This record gives sequence, C-alpha cells and structure tokens, in this order.
Amino acid sequence: MSSSVVSRSGRFSAGPAAEVAAFSESISFDWRLWAQDIRGSIAHATMLQKIGVLTKTELKSIRGGLEEIGREIAAGKFQWKLELEDVHMNIEAELTKRVPAGAKLHTGRSRNDQVAVDVRLWLRDEIEALDGELHGLQRALVDLGAANADVIIPGYTHLQRAQPVFFAHHCLAYVEMLARDIERFEDCWSRVNVCPLGSGAIAGSTLPLDREFVAELLEFTHPRTGKPRVTQNSMDGVSDRDFMVEFAAASALLAVHLSRLSEDLILWVSSEFGFIKIADAYTTGSSLMPQKKNPDVAELTRGKAGRVVGNLMALLTLLKGLPMTYNRDLQEDKERLFDTADTVRACVRLMTGMLANTSVNAGACARAASDPLLLATDLADYLVRKGMPFREAHHVVGSVVGLAEMTGKPLNELSLEDFRGVSDRFGPDVVDMFDLRKAMARRQLTGAPGTKEVKRQLARWTKRLAQV
Ligand code: ARG
Repeated sequence: MSSSVVSRSGRFSAGPAAEVAAFSESISFDWRLWAQDIRGSIAHATMLQKIGVLTKTELKSIRGGLEEIGREIAAGKFQWKLELEDVHMNIEAELTKRVPAGAKLHTGRSRNDQVAVDVRLWLRDEIEALDGELHGLQRALVDLGAANADVIIPGYTHLQRAQPVFFAHHCLAYVEMLARDIERFEDCWSRVNVCPLGSGAIAGSTLPLDREFVAELLEFTHPRTGKPRVTQNSMDGVSDRDFMVEFAAASALLAVHLSRLSEDLILWVSSEFGFIKIADAYTTGSSLMPQKKNPDVAELTRGKAGRVVGNLMALLTLLKGLPMTYNRDLQEDKERLFDTADTVRACVRLMTGMLANTSVNAGACARAASDPLLLATDLADYLVRKGMPFREAHHVVGSVVGLAEMTGKPLNELSLEDFRGVSDRFGPDVVDMFDLRKAMARRQLTGAPGTKEVKRQLARWTKRLAQV
C-alpha cells in the first residue's frame, strides 16, 4: 500500500517528491515507538468497539493484526517503508493491508494525538527505568563510601585544600544530588502521565469517544486515587511538549551532576592526587604512550553533558516560535528526546559500573589529609572556645600560619612558646587540635563530615536504598 492510501487520499494527485519524502520522514528514528503505537491503537480500538464504532469481530481482527505486526517488528522481520513517513502510518497501512477493519482504526483520531500519546507512553517507561538506574548509582556511591568509611581526604574550595572530610562524606554529597534528580524525574513523570487521546487533530471529535476509558486502558491514572487522567484542552493536548522540556531539563541537570562527579574522579585518579584507582576495564590506554591509563569513561561522561544540555536548548528553541497548535516542526522533538534519554541512561549505567570497579588508595588520602593546615579553622574555633571573638581568632591563626611558613615548620610542629608568642590564649591543650581523628569527632552538626554523623548518614542511605 502506498502512502497515498493512508494520508494523501483524494486531495493529492501525486505523492511527494522523493527529496521531500526523504526530508520529511521520521520512520528512521520514530520506529522505536512501535510498541507504544500498537498499545495505543489497541486501546483506541477497544474504546471504538465499546462505543459501537467497531463490531466485536472487527476489534478482534484489528487486535490480532496489530499483535501479529508487533511480533514481526520484535523479531526484526517487519519491513519499514520510508515512503510511509512515520511509525504510525507504517503500522496502520500494514494493518489495513492485512485486515479490512484496519481502515476504521483511525476513527476519531489524528496522528497529532497519536504521536502525543505514543511519546508519553514511551517516556513514562523511560523515566521509571532511569529511576531504577539512578537508585543503583546511589547504591554504588554509598557502597564505595561505606567500604572506605575510615578514609579522610582534604575537602577543597577553589580547588585549594580547605578542611578535612571523610571520603564517604564526599560520596554522599553526590547521593544527595541524585536524590533531587530522582525527585525531579518523578515530578516530571506525573505530568507525562496524562492521556491526550481524544484531542484529535486539534479540536477533539464529534464522535462520542470515551477518553477516560482509553486513559484507564493505557494506565494514565493517578497513582494514588486510580482516577484516569486526560488532557483538558484539545489544542494543548496535541501541541504540549512541556513534559519533554521538563525531562530534558532534569536530564541536563543530572548530566551536569555526573559531569562534576567525573571531574572529581579524573582529578583523584591523576598521579597528582592518587586518591583512587579505576579498574582496567573502565580505562583505556594511549596509542602512543605505553604508560598511560586514561579515565575515558569519566571524560566521556563529562563530555556528554554538553550534548544533553544542547538537547534542552534545541527543544526550547524548537517550541519558542510555534503558533498553536501542531506544526510539523514538532517532529524534531523526538531525536532530542531519544538522545537525551539514551545518553543519560548510558552515563548513569557506566558510572555505576565504574564506581563498583574503583578502589581507594588509603595511603595517598591519609598523606593529603595529614596536612595540618586543614585544621587552621579548628584552631580558630579553639580560640573562640577560650573566649576570643572569631574575627580576632581568624587573625591570630593567620599569624600562626605565617609564622609556620616563615620558620619552615609545619603548623603542628610549632612549640607552645611559638603559639603563645602570638597569643597567650593558647594553652598546652592546643596540640590536641592537630589530632585528625579527634578533629573529625568534634564535627557533630547534622550534615557535617563528623565521625558519628557520616556513619549515621551512611546508615540512613543504606536503609533508604534497601527499601526502593
Ligand atoms: N511524524 C509526526 C511527528 O513526529 C507525526 C505527526 C504528524 N502529524 C501531521 N499532521 N503531519 O510529529
């Protein structure tokens, strides 16, 4: 069957020029909506039978035909035709060729609400799968932190050593970021989960379609109340792509988080830091330098953030000048959407695998964390406890650091006389300030990198992640 039978009936005397067909086809990428398209069509046909447009026999033959086509597509035996433009027409044309009642399937439906429902079905599943994978990544971060629970590293601001933190605390920072990402995706899901079928091309239908029934069949229901959720304006129903933009935006932020994590790993795996080792399977060599072991997975993850952010920009730009309602421009949404979903899922999966194959070099971490300057702030807090105003304490410790620098002695090797030369508030207990374990125990605030608090946070996340 040629495309003219399905979409160019009557009005057109000839098909589009070959060049136009090649320019306007979307089958090369929207074929992957086939399962959703078939599911949506079966639901629509079931409803058409309920309202008397199809007989039971016709419904049965349509359903059988669609299921058969689905099996052939799944087995890679279906012949996609470029001249049939998109997934919707390919499947419908093939159905009608096999089953005469197929010609009734499109009653009260347009490709405009059809593509909207297909994409929503697809994205709903995609978000659920991504959700699961994000929890897996959180688990990998918690596991890496828990396996190295005693390891302390310098925390950095401006990429300069700042204050000591547990390695696990650093890992848990990303767990928190990912938790917000998951919330954003779940929030987006609730707006994806609305059924646009029945919107028709733009203005619904004069036929008594049962929109709520279709929504129920396709599980477009409220997760708590179970009530069907259908779009409330037919024009909005066919032209709304907000949910895609939301997904792309949540993905862009996720990609940025993964890029930052990648950057940390790239720094840590360098000889300059040497905090971690990534297993060979997750690194690559250099074609020229025999000694090289490069963190390509992390670098590519960092690089791919660029295209995910770009996809968000492409979608926003695509939509900004569109008059109501459906415009063919909207066909450009799918490749950005697919690429976004594929890219973030791959990045999350690979990051999870890489972290599971990463070990911590406790010696290098301990050496870096033993820098007494990391505890300069603790020294100021010490003076505050002795009654000194913080601004003054900050100044005094600054002078002590200056003295250490001048005399070439590490801060913790200055004598009590050296300290007292700067301020008589220093007492013999000042040496305690440089005991790193004690310093970590002193950090007791919620969210601080203290010994007890980090243990508590690890336990909290371990428990939480065991429940999802
Ligand atoms: N392939 C089209 C898309 O992706 C399907 C909808 C076409 N609708 C239309 N009126 N031409 O948007």
